[in-house]
Amino acid sequence: MNAPIKKIVLPVAGLGTRFLPATKAIPKEMLPVVDKPLIQYAVEEALEAGIEDIILVTGRNKQVMEDHFDHAYELEKILQEKGKDEALEVARSMLLEEGRISYVRQMRPLGLGHAIWCARKLVGNNPFAVALPDDLIKGRPGALKQMVEAYNELGGNMVATMNVSREDTSKYGVITPGDHTKNRIVVGGLVEKPHPDDAPSTQAVVGRYILQPEVMDHLNKKAVGAGGEIQLTDAMAELIGQQPFHAIEFDGTRFDCGSKIGWLMANLSLATEDPTLASEVERLITFR
Ligand code: G1P
Repeated sequence: MNAPIKKIVLPVAGLGTRFLPATKAIPKEMLPVVDKPLIQYAVEEALEAGIEDIILVTGRNKQVMEDHFDHAYELEKILQEKGKDEALEVARSMLLEEGRISYVRQMRPLGLGHAIWCARKLVGNNPFAVALPDDLIKGRPGALKQMVEAYNELGGNMVATMNVSREDTSKYGVITPGDHTKNRIVVGGLVEKPHPDDAPSTQAVVGRYILQPEVMDHLNKKAVGAGGEIQLTDAMAELIGQQPFHAIEFDGTRFDCGSKIGWLMANLSLATEDPTLASEVERLITFR
């Protein structure tokens, strides 16, 4: 039987320069989509997938995320006194049992692969998931649950992928696809941000992964790849041929909330699903 996925690493150390000045004093992962910060969507998706331990790889100026997952005593007391039970419930909704959420710092911005490597002691010798909170995925069930279900059958390593236009391959990790069964593709190769002329396919990796602990051995080499950074994609590529490796074409919509347009689209899309906002938002969109 495949060891169950009980841990997730959420890299949240990035500077968020594309959202300045909004991200000068708050982390980009705390930007709200409708009424919840991005990081909360990622944690909720992980919990839905049965994941128990949440590991945040943080950096300087990210402490507010620890507060987000903790009690806000003053706020809770005031809401209680005023009898605002609904608001109180929302304020308390993200409180995990102590010990289930851990924080480790990436002290230098050396790339996504380095960020994941920073969590190696907390991950230990267990398979684990990774989610990039910038990639907000709307799916029922969520993308991580879809992947965990596939993993329970297939084992090994997994990336979520979607088809992109060829000119966009240079923004993503891209797979060399092998056999395709339903939405599962055997991964024959992986390359980070290839030029459209060199891309092996248009199946692009979005920010959801299931990885075996051996990926840490490859990250340990600290090899520098695309963009002068230590790339997760390069370490994953080393596992191909050693362990099973599949891509899952997930069912859902992904919003790149690291970009302004992706974040705006996520807000509009989720707002149209909120019964308290839908009709106003639809009116706004059709007025142009
Ligand atoms: C990262 C990964 C890339 C992946 C992308 C998905 O890139 O390195 O392989 O396709 O996330 O969002 P980034 O967007 O951080 O440059």
